[in-house]
Amino acid sequence: MTIGISDIAFATAYQVLDLQQLADAQGIDVGKYYIGIGQSEMSVPFPDEDIVTMGADAAAQIIARHGADGIRTLLFATESGIDQSKSAGVFVHGLLGMGERCRVVELKQACYSATAALQFALGIVARDASEKVLVIASDVARYALDTSGEPTQGAAAVAFLVTADPALLEIEPVTGLHTDDIHDFWRPNYLSTALVDGKYSLAAYLGALEGAWGEYRSRGGAAFADIARFCYHQPFTKMAVKAHDRLCKVAGAELDKEQRLAQIAASLQMNRRTGNSYTASIYVGLLSLLERDEADLAGERIGFFSYGSGSVSEFFTGVVRPGYRELLRTARDAATLDDRVAIAHARYRALHEAVDAVQGSDYETAAETPGPYRFAGVVDHVRRYETRG
Ligand code: COA
Repeated sequence: MTIGISDIAFATAYQVLDLQQLADAQGIDVGKYYIGIGQSEMSVPFPDEDIVTMGADAAAQIIARHGADGIRTLLFATESGIDQSKSAGVFVHGLLGMGERCRVVELKQACYSATAALQFALGIVARDASEKVLVIASDVARYALDTSGEPTQGAAAVAFLVTADPALLEIEPVTGLHTDDIHDFWRPNYLSTALVDGKYSLAAYLGALEGAWGEYRSRGGAAFADIARFCYHQPFTKMAVKAHDRLCKVAGAELDKEQRLAQIAASLQMNRRTGNSYTASIYVGLLSLLERDEADLAGERIGFFSYGSGSVSEFFTGVVRPGYRELLRTARDAATLDDRVAIAHARYRALHEAVDAVQGSDYETAAETPGPYRFAGVVDHVRRYETRG
């Protein structure tokens, strides 16, 4: 039996800040962002958007195509949880009117947990081939204003359906793991913004890649030459470029710069515009690769490196199924990015500060998002969500 991903859908926040705006406000050359870290824009949530509205937006596309019948597990992966106890997935389950016979849980390990969700989903389907598992990865990446992490914020969600005999991508069984108790990026309970030791996190990421790749190979994983494309966790797209250069070196692959870039370039395009989406970013990368790579990837093997600071990481592979292109929502996803409302630096800054101002009190949000679901506010400490009419 083969198991893997049968469908995958994308959502992001409905506002966008061009990093030119940030560079201008900071009085620096935008080349640092456009070229140096490889980011051109970041998605910025309206006040009535969050991980639930984005997650529901992505998952609704899957449910519209496949129905909710037979989905007995919903795994919600996030670093930017909205409740310390209740899974964000239960809010989505309610918004989408899914059936009662469903287990729903939230998973956390920085940017890695969507990959844990994928692996757990594969196990559930391996045990009973009739099971379908809906995985949602949704995050709003937030750093404090005026810190070096500020240009690497963003927001997006990806939902994917894990089934037997998958239509899109068969996930292969061999994986390589690497865990290390470090503090490269983390977010204490009392902060709404992440803390990061930027340069250390880059080095930790690359070290984890070597560790996970080493274990992958020692467990019988495919040779580098048998992997056509690579998809990395992308806190900023330049990180994936650095990672792939490192992997080529470690694997002894003699490729020039252009050849190395060709193996990852399509996977960077959407993240370049959403900004960091933590758990979702590697799967935004997968979608970007499938939708934007000009080559026919049917039958080709993709290598994935999933990294979550703290840190847990995993290298694994998948093989693209024939007919994958017909299943993609390529035009819709491009329009989702193009149609975001462009905002100026002052509004971005005001929205960033407002998140901390409303903590702990009841409030209503103005109806602003053009998206299908909205966060309506908090009453008696309960978050209220609505389907937009
Ligand atoms: N034109 C082109 N490139 C430029 C430039 C310009 N005008 N100005 C600077 N650059 C380049 C630098 O040379 C550097 O490239 P390099 O890394 O290849 O050497 C890059 O832009 C970044 O510049 P740097 O001075 O290192 O930026 P910084 O000190 O502000 O830090 C990060 C950058 C990425 C470390 C910081 O944004 C950060 O901490 N982000 C969060 C990291 C994260 O998400 N970690 C979790 C990992 S999973």
